[in-house]
Amino acid sequence: MRRYVRLALLCLLGGLCSLLYAAFCQLAGSGHTAAAGRHLQRDWMLQRAYVDGSAKGVHGASGFDIDHGEHHRRRYNVTKVRPVETMHLAVVACGERLEETVTMLKSAIIFSKTLLHFHIFAEDQLHAGFKEIFNTWAFPEKFTYTLYPITFPSENAAEWKKLFKPCASQRLFLPLILKHVDSLLYVDTDILFLRPVDDIWALLKTFNATQIAAMAPEHEEPRIGWYNRFARHPYYGKTGINSGVMLMNMTRMRRKHFKNDMTGARLRWGELLMPLLKKYKLNITWGDQDLLNIMFYHNPESLFVFPCQWNYRPDHCIYGSNCRESEEEGIFILHGNRGVYHDDKQPAFRAVYEAIKNYSFGSDLVQTLLDPLKLELKRTVHTYCGRIPTVFLKQLTKSIEDIYSSTPKGG
Ligand SMILES: *[C@@H]1O[C@H](CO)[C@@H](O)[C@H](O)[C@H]1NC(C)=O
Ligand SMILES: *[C@@H]1O[C@H](CO)[C@@H](O)[C@H](O)[C@H]1NC(C)=O
Ligand SMILES: *[C@@H]1O[C@H](CO)[C@@H](O)[C@H](O)[C@H]1NC(C)=O
Ligand SMILES: *[C@@H]1O[C@H](CO)[C@@H](O)[C@H](O)[C@H]1NC(C)=O
Ligand SMILES: *[C@@H]1O[C@H](CO)[C@@H](O)[C@H](O)[C@H]1NC(C)=O
Repeated sequence: MRRYVRLALLCLLGGLCSLLYAAFCQLAGSGHTAAAGRHLQRDWMLQRAYVDGSAKGVHGASGFDIDHGEHHRRRYNVTKVRPVETMHLAVVACGERLEETVTMLKSAIIFSKTLLHFHIFAEDQLHAGFKEIFNTWAFPEKFTYTLYPITFPSENAAEWKKLFKPCASQRLFLPLILKHVDSLLYVDTDILFLRPVDDIWALLKTFNATQIAAMAPEHEEPRIGWYNRFARHPYYGKTGINSGVMLMNMTRMRRKHFKNDMTGARLRWGELLMPLLKKYKLNITWGDQDLLNIMFYHNPESLFVFPCQWNYRPDHCIYGSNCRESEEEGIFILHGNRGVYHDDKQPAFRAVYEAIKNYSFGSDLVQTLLDPLKLELKRTVHTYCGRIPTVFLKQLTKSIEDIYSSTPKGG
């Protein structure tokens, strides 16, 4: 221990750059998985993948060759080697959610083009399981990850923990915990990407000056909406918002002073949460999602609302199709809430989950994912959701086609 302390001092006194210091701290065993040394290697791998024209993998042996000719330059608009932005994805996993979370992360990896960093908040007993699975997914150019314990502000920790399902309110604290992360896509464990994460990430750049976060409406059809019929607290818009897929510019969230109905003064994110819980705890049903609805009710100019196909739930089809955008373009992100991946209530949702779960990296996506899924969906046409298989297949088919058309054959 004293040796490490002395070494650390030496590092500092020697005036070594912060990079070396970070590398040392990692070697000293800070517990994080993404070692700084590997960061460097990863950036190099990514640049190489990028220059190679496909972040889907490092193809061929042409390697770090910057001059790739006009063809590549036009196609990928690579004028010079530059670091590529990392997309940050956060999830909170508790209880029996290991397999579901891993399947979600798998879907993110299959389709995404840019490097992903996973921030995984999980109960301690799940950490070993995640590490074991990630060790078998060895492609550093696609993803890196950090595992965190579930953490709450120490005062009121118990109160936060019992709010809603175990651990779900963790997401409210992400802007305060991940202080150095600019933007983040938070998703529930029961979502599946049928389209590159890059495409939802790109929405961040379209935020206007006041928007800080993006979510989908809770319902398309007010007649079956929950908030507009039952809520005993304010909620956003006509039918409220669903927080299962939440895109955040956390830099802006941390800076903003929020209007609220507790004091005349505007409050920062970190100051807002506990008073809000105290005021509304007897009136909220869906835990932290309700708190988000109250916040954005008072600050509507701060929310970017994306269409239902980015957060497609059984409610969009169980009483007949009501997500018009998904009929046109297909589902982009599937959200199997209420456990539908694991029971027989919505077999169309379950079929998509199983198809992605069954898939092994490196296998042919058409033969081992899309074709078996099409077969399975045929067996669900007796259900309202299964009656519209193209909604489930359209974007997925396109995403798979895009992967194969952008991957140079044979390197
Ligand atoms: C390439 O990107 C630059 C900067 O983003 C842009 O100005 C330029 O128009 C792009 N060129 C092509 C061919 O897309
Ligand atoms: C988030 O907002 C900050 C402050 O406005 C801005 O500098 C940053 O580029 C934004 N991040 C993204 C990914 O758009
Ligand atoms: C909670 O609900 C009750 C009954 O609908 C209502 O009278 C009360 O004002 C609500 N509390 C808050 C803080 O909105
Ligand atoms: C940004 O968009 C939101 C939602 O459409 C809107 O309420 C807000 O006024 C817009 N802000 C600016 C600065 O245009
Ligand atoms: C997934 O695998 C299971 C077990 O092998 C099989 O029964 C099921 O039909 C498969 N489902 C899909 C959609 O591929």
